This record gives sequence, structure tokens and C-alpha cells, in this order.
Amino acid sequence: MEPLQDNPLRREDLLAHPIDQFARWFEQAKTFPGMTRPEPMCLSTVGPDGFPDSRMVLLKTFGYDGFVFYTNMHSPKARSLVALPRAALCFYWEPPKRQVRIQGTVERVSEAEADAYWETRPRESQIGVWVSDQSMVVADRGLFERRAAELTAAFEGRAVPRPVYWSGFRVVPRRIEFWQERPGRLHDRFVYVRAGGEEWEIQQLYP
Ligand SMILES: Cc1cc2nc3c(=O)[nH]c(=O)nc-3n(C[C@H](O)[C@H](O)[C@H](O)COP(=O)(O)O)c2cc1C
Repeated sequence: MEPLQDNPLRREDLLAHPIDQFARWFEQAKTFPGMTRPEPMCLSTVGPDGFPDSRMVLLKTFGYDGFVFYTNMHSPKARSLVALPRAALCFYWEPPKRQVRIQGTVERVSEAEADAYWETRPRESQIGVWVSDQSMVVADRGLFERRAAELTAAFEGRAVPRPVYWSGFRVVPRRIEFWQERPGRLHDRFVYVRAGGEEWEIQQLYP
């Protein structure tokens, strides 16, 4: 086995704003040899029964206002987020053996933002959204496929509109943690906690 390449994360390496730090790691992850894509993230929510639940979603945009993903607003995750607008996101990038954990409050993106993103999606995925009653029981896979074919024909020659039940959520961070694997389990871990507005406090944590 190849020895782990040591890639320390030092306090003095950190940018003052965690979104700038995230952007730096995200860009590095994109081009890191052996890395496929950095966008998949684990989204955790708490349901009305009090149980946490997690699933992967794709990060579509991020900025100082938060981290955005899109989904079906009738889905269990969306219902959970409407009832309790708090969430956690977790990325793991291997290589470069880095984890980022984000915790925050959640808000819906504007209709204009959802429309703008919808228009960039391939036609097939737009039709896929119309066809899928996300997380409902599939009694007949054939019916699902026939609906896809019918809708493809029905939308022929015109733009596929965005269904009202498909939109995005923005996770507005209150805490972001960066974890870098180091040899001997002496990993580097720094957490940014929002101190108010765009001021963030940084602390190092034991791994
Ligand atoms: C890599 C990956 C990316 C995914 N991206 C999304 C996404 O962006 N939006 C989405 O609604 N579901 C996405 N899914 C499917 C979800 O993980 C999940 O199965 C689905 O949204 C239903 O979740 P729910 O029943 O908790 O609402 C993705 C799955 C994988 C494996």
C-alpha cells in the first residue's frame, strides 16, 4: 500500500470566511487526481417522528448565502425540512481524504432561482421529474416507463415547464467544519462558528 500523502491543514492556512475556505477545497477536490466529482453530499434532516434521516443530494450552487440543492417538494426530505427547517450536510472527498460538515437553517430558493436552474437541466431529467412521485411506492415499473414515454411525446416541440412541486432549498450555515486526514490518526480539524453576521470564530478540535 502506498503511504498516505501527508497534507496538513494549519491554522494559518485557513481563510477567514468558511465559504472561501470551502470554495478553495471544492476547487481542489475537482482536480485532485483520482477524484470523480465533489458535488454529492449527504443531507440529514429530522422527520416529524423525531428520527434523523440521511440521503445523498447534489450541491448545485453555493455562496455566502448558503448551499443549494434541488428536490421534489412532496418528498419526505422536503416535508421534513418544511416542518423543521434545519439540516446538516456532509461531504467526503477521497482523495484528498477531506471531510466538510455543515450545519444550518434551511430556506426555499426563490421561484426565479428555481426557474433559472430548471432551464439548465437536460430535457430527459426534466421529464424524469414529471414522471417520478419521489419516494412513493412503485406498484408497476412498466407504468413508470410508459408515463415517461407519454410525457416525452406530450412535450414534443416545446419547453418542459418546471412542476410547481420541484424546487430548491438553501442551507444557511451556522457551523462549518473542515477535517483533513493525517498519518497516525493525528488528523487536523477546524470548526468555524458564526459569531454574528459574516463574522466567524475558528477553533481547532481534537480529531
Ligand atoms: C449521488 C446521488 C445524488 C443525488 N442527488 C439528488 C438530488 O440532487 N435531489 C434529489 O431529490 N435526490 C437526489 N438523489 C436521490 C436521493 O438520495 C433520495 O433517494 C431521494 O431524493 C428521496 O429522498 P427522500 O425520500 O428522503 O426525500 C441522489 C442520490 C445519489 C446517490
